[in-house]
This record gives sequence, C-alpha cells and structure tokens, in this order.
Amino acid sequence: MSQTAKIVLNENEHDLPVVTGSENENAIDISKLRASTGYITIDPGYKNTGATTSAITFLDGEKGILRYRGYPIEQLAANASFMEVAYLLIYGELPNAVELQLFEGSIKRHTLVHEDMKRFFEAYPAKAHPMGVLSSMVSSFATFYPESQNPDRNSEAINLTIHRLIAKLPTLAAWSYKNSMRHPFMYPKNHLNYCENFLNMMFAMPTEDYNIDPVIADAINKLLILHADHEQNCSTSTVRIVGSSQANLYSSISAGICALWGPLHGGANQKVIEMLLKIHIDGGNVDKWVEKAKDKNDPFRLMGFGHRVYKNFDPRAKIIKKSCDDVLEKLGVDDPLLDIAKKLEKVALEDEYFKERNLYPNVDFYSGIIYKALRIPTEMFTVMFAIGRLPGWIAQWKEMTENGEPIGRPRQIYTGHGNRDYVDVAKR
Ligand code: SDX
Repeated sequence: MSQTAKIVLNENEHDLPVVTGSENENAIDISKLRASTGYITIDPGYKNTGATTSAITFLDGEKGILRYRGYPIEQLAANASFMEVAYLLIYGELPNAVELQLFEGSIKRHTLVHEDMKRFFEAYPAKAHPMGVLSSMVSSFATFYPESQNPDRNSEAINLTIHRLIAKLPTLAAWSYKNSMRHPFMYPKNHLNYCENFLNMMFAMPTEDYNIDPVIADAINKLLILHADHEQNCSTSTVRIVGSSQANLYSSISAGICALWGPLHGGANQKVIEMLLKIHIDGGNVDKWVEKAKDKNDPFRLMGFGHRVYKNFDPRAKIIKKSCDDVLEKLGVDDPLLDIAKKLEKVALEDEYFKERNLYPNVDFYSGIIYKALRIPTEMFTVMFAIGRLPGWIAQWKEMTENGEPIGRPRQIYTGHGNRDYVDVAKR
C-alpha cells in the first residue's frame, strides 16, 4: 500500500505521495506542493533533495555499498574490463561476447580526432591545465558533428555520438599532455585495448616503442571502473541539467568536465597529492595538519576526506588503498607520500572531530598515489577521473533523455529589496 506524508500549513493538512525505490529508499514527492499550498521547499546544495529516479547506480552511504546496475563495485573492479562496464552503464546489461566485440570494434573505429582540431592545441600555452583543454575540445566536437545538435534525439545519432565520445576522450587527453610537453602527438593504434591505447598515446615517442606494462594497464582499467558512475554527484547533475534543455550530448559532457574540475569534486585527487607533498616537505608532522584541518579559522581541509553521501568508508577508497600496495610493490616504487597518507588516515579516523562528522577517506584520497606511481602527471589526475566518469555521465544523460524529463529549473526564495523607483544618476 503506497504511503503518504502529511504536512500541516496554516492549520490545513496536505497529503503528499511517497515514492519508494527498489532498494526501499523513500522520498516525499513535492511536485504538486506549490500548486496545492503555495509553498516551495529549500535545500542549499540539494543535501536532502532527490532530482530524479534512476536505475543506473545504487549507493548506500551508511553501509558503504556501491553497485552499477545491481553489480557490486568490488566484483566489477576485480573481474571486468572498463569497456564492459561502460556498456553495462549505458545499455543496462553486461554485453555478451558478440555485443562486446561489436562495441569495442566501433569504439576503435572512432579514436581519431579531426585533423583540423589538432591546430587548436597549438593555441594553448604549455602550462594550460588539461581539464580546460578537454572541456573546450569536447564542446567543439558539436561544431564538427552538427548532426549531434538535432534535438529529435534519434537513437542512431545519439549512439554514434556516444561511441565517438568514448573513443576520442583518451586521444584528446593524451594529446593535451603531449602538447604540454611540446612532444609530438602519438596516434591511436587499433591492435591495443582501450587502456593500452591510452598509455601508448601518453608515453610512446615516434623514436621508440613504449613497452606497455600489464600491471599499469590493469591498474588504469581498475581505476577507470571505480570512477565510472556515482549517481547524482555534482558533475553528473550538471550533465543532466544541461541536457534537460535539449542541448547536445557533447555540450552536456563538456559542462560535466567543468564541474568535475572543482577541488571539492574531481579536482580533489590533484589537491590530495599537493597536500601530501606539502606535509612531506614540512617534515611529515601529520598531527599538525590534522589540527589545521579541524581549525575553523584555518582554510586548510583534509583533501580526499569526507563525502556528501558516504558516512562510512567509500568502498572505492578501500579498493584503491589495497591496489596502492599491490601496484607500488609490483612497480618497485617506494613513495613516502603513501606512508604519509596512511598515517594521516589513521590519525584522522581516531580523532573525535572526524569521527563525529563521519569523515572518511573518499575515492580521491589514494587514487593520486597510484596515478603518480603510473607516471601520470599530477595535472592529469582529474582528466583520468573524467575518462572514467564519461560512461556514467552518458548513461545518466541517456536515461534523462529517454524518460523525457522536463527542463531543470529550480525555484528560489527572494531576499532582496522590495519594490523601489529608479533614481537618476545625478540625484544618487
Ligand atoms: C568526489 O558526490 C559524489 O559522489 C562525488 C564523488 C563522485 O564519485 O562523483 O564521490 C567524487 O567529489 C569526492 C569528494 C572529493 N572532495 C574532497 O575530498 C574535498 C574535501 N572534502 C570536503 O570538501 C567535503 O567533505 C565534501 C565537499 C566532499 C562534502 O562536503 P559536504 O557534504 O557539503 O559537507 P560539509 O562541507 O558541510 O562538511 C560537514 C562538516 C563541516 O564541519 P562543521 O560545519 O559541521 O563543523 O565536516 C567538515 C566541515 O567543515 N568537513 C571537513 C572536511 N570535509 C568536511 N573538515 C576537514 N576536512 C575535510 N575534508
């Protein structure tokens, strides 16, 4: 029997329907609230507000559960390829062998970027942050593929755009790195798989082949899977709201890249490494920095700690922390920043301030350590997050489009001046 919520306003009772999801989460449906009461709700940062219903990702912040289309992240990270997970998120089911072969074959056919776009890179300064390059390049795709702007949302055209995006993002990412080094661009090679291709474009040189270490390729595969989707986070909500205006998928993804860049979101992985380096240079006094993070008068925060939803361990952080030890050992890397990270985690998790606020390491806390060991430059860390999150952004945009959701337009409560008349500048 469906529940209802009862609210009393000005002595009038109003019944509001309750929505219950497949994992027994409950929400009060306020879509008719203003029409029936004249009231809206307000919730800065949408901390308690659901924007949609979705069948893509389920996470339970209290229990530290994360599943893509019902599959636990632990099983996908241990057994799947990133291409399988991309297919699962976007089309709803794990591909069979033929579906996977066709999907990977199509992706391989779209890895090249239009030669005219290569000239764009020449205009960027060497120190251009790759996230700024990536968002503008992805937005420019819409000008090279004008058919993507048709709002009729026919699935053939959308599918082509989806495959082009997944295929070209690693090429753009690697070329933005090569451009920053003023090194020649390396072209995709179709005999390599998705992660190997990215590594080859990043680190190969025309003068010599790059030996792809399977340990590194496997670590990249696992990291991309762990970042692939995370329900209605800041950048995904951005992709959905831009797409809700019937803007094309390239523009929506470009907006998501911009939102992810923020240091409170995907940009945190770069900030974590910078923070650990600062603590290391400062002598490694972890207690001092934990105290700074607790001090309200100090702007310093423990980057990679805390989460809007997880009030327990971020399951991705657990997996990445374990991979840290494995990958660094296999690569023979001994990174003092990993020791500092572990000490920081231990001190913070025993501290009342962090315990009271349920602040645990999140996905960004350890990922930078692995990227660093894989020789990925620090400024490319958030780009790695974007490559991983792309299938999730696409899946969420596709779901919103297929469900015919209305254009996103939140309300507000006005707190400015009341009505007043214009005064001529001579009299002000
Ligand atoms: C991602 O949403 C997602 O799913 C995102 C993501 C994804 O996969 O898409 O998981 C990826 O963005 C992970 C988060 C990466 N960001 C960081 O690591 C930056 C550091 N973390 C914080 O800025 C913060 O924890 C947020 C932004 C992640 C969450 O902030 P909230 O939910 O708005 O919580 P809040 O800022 O209101 O904090 C609650 C309290 C506050 O103290 P009080 O006012 O109660 O005294 O906890 C404190 C905060 O000051 N706090 C921290 C802290 N994070 C929160 N104090 C010190 N260090 C921190 N890192």
